[in-house]
Amino acid sequence: MKLKITGTGRYLPELILTNEMLSQQVDTSDEWIVSRTGISERRLTQGEPTWYMAVQAARKAIEAASLQPSELDIILVTTCTPDYFVPATACIVQAELGASNAFCFDVNAACTGFIYALDMAARYLQDEQIRHVLIVSSENLSKITDYSDRGTCILFGDGASAVVCSRPEPDGQSALLSTRLGSEGDSAHVLVSRALSIQHPFLKDRPVWPDRFGACDNQAIQMDGQEVFKFAVRVLADSVIEAVEKAQVELSDLSYIIPHQANSRIVDAAARRLDVDHEKVISKLASYGNTSSASIPICLDEMVRSGQLKRGDTIALCGFGGGLTFGAAILTY
Ligand code: ACO
Repeated sequence: MKLKITGTGRYLPELILTNEMLSQQVDTSDEWIVSRTGISERRLTQGEPTWYMAVQAARKAIEAASLQPSELDIILVTTCTPDYFVPATACIVQAELGASNAFCFDVNAACTGFIYALDMAARYLQDEQIRHVLIVSSENLSKITDYSDRGTCILFGDGASAVVCSRPEPDGQSALLSTRLGSEGDSAHVLVSRALSIQHPFLKDRPVWPDRFGACDNQAIQMDGQEVFKFAVRVLADSVIEAVEKAQVELSDLSYIIPHQANSRIVDAAARRLDVDHEKVISKLASYGNTSSASIPICLDEMVRSGQLKRGDTIALCGFGGGLTFGAAILTY
């Protein structure tokens, strides 16, 4: 599929939440968190909304792509932590950028959002009239994290990253070679955060409709960590193998694998199942923790800006998350 990444950018809030700070809040320790997750610190907003982080990342990506905002045809925001149900975060980003020629919408596939969005961007770019799609992944997980729950609060951080996907020149080598997307809604209960629930004004005396995932009066993330862990290790490796086969390349052709940054033990287990060199599997967990759909494009931007990722490199991106959802993409940068 025709797709060239022409610009990337990221925004990470300044506030650093260390393991030491968390261990003053809940019964945990730096040693436990590092050995079980690989995370040393994560960034937290000091009130910056999801849309604000998205705009900062988007501006950098557009500048790197040498584009004017008016040249964008689509703005696609991936988030499971929007500031509003309506409008879509993508419409706020449009207004802030002045990208008046774009149509804009949000995608929520939890932590797999960026892979789903990349697949959508490539499909839109088949249309001759679409030349530039801006994907922005922005997550404010601190809004839905219970900082008295040691099983979850150690994992999550805030951040945003953006990628401009453009129609490539016909003889160029950049392309999205394949994707493998999937969902397993039957296992949704292992990772849940509730939306607003308001008492119906005209049916106050009716019995309450039971919550599909069990009674709960707040929006904080509830997670069965071990079940998520098993799911992640299975789908990360399997989806990469299937995407590689679809792309008609070999695992050994991949310069890097960029997995969703959730837990270094998940990343290590997937690398062992794939039997690939650990050096090729990117991990930025120590500094940022799990930033949901923003985690893969944050890695991508760091690699592009440091020169680690070079034109012509073929890479795998792979994610998993609430839904449950999973996805892998093979891309020649
Ligand atoms: N500090 C100290 N002890 C802890 C902590 C903590 N922060 N958290 C749990 N424990 C304790 C438990 O209470 C339990 O104690 P017990 O044996 O006395 O009952 C013990 O440690 C073991 O608990 P487990 O839950 O079995 O620990 P595990 O090794 O599975 O690690 C973890 C937990 C880190 C959450 C792991 O299961 C994991 O990473 N799962 C995947 C989570 C994930 O990836 N989620 C996000 C995916 S989707 C998205 O990104 C939104």
